[in-house]
Amino acid sequence: MYTEKVMDHFANPRNVGEIADADGIGEVGNAKCGDIMKMYIKVKDDVITDVKFKTYGCGSAIATSSIATEMIKGHTIKEALELSNKAVVEALGGLPAHKIHCSVLAEQSIKAAIADYYTRQGIDPEPIVGKIPECEGGHCHI
Ligand code: FES
Repeated sequence: MYTEKVMDHFANPRNVGEIADADGIGEVGNAKCGDIMKMYIKVKDDVITDVKFKTYGCGSAIATSSIATEMIKGHTIKEALELSNKAVVEALGGLPAHKIHCSVLAEQSIKAAIADYYTRQGIDPEPIVGKIPECEGGHCHI
């Protein structure tokens, strides 16, 4: 049911934790299951130099976020914004259909962290990041 890659990232998640002096923090809740993802980024010269995540979520959410952090670390903000949950799922070798919604948490929490980064810079994030559904006080629901 789960690929080896999913099991690996679930059992040994990369980039778990917090960044105390993060440049952007995104917190997203999944309306389908109530799970929560928190993403922290450090940014220098438009490049995501460090990223960490914490989740109150299922194994699929852990695996997708783990691989997503690997896919954006060292990449530009523009590249990170182009990362779709479809690409993340493909990188894991697939997820069961009823677990696809879990992968959206990774994509959206990265977007929310980047939006927070721009807000802290005094830049309106919406034209760059797009609209993240139902954000309120740094917490979004998808
Ligand atoms: Fe909630 Fe997977 S069941 S994120």
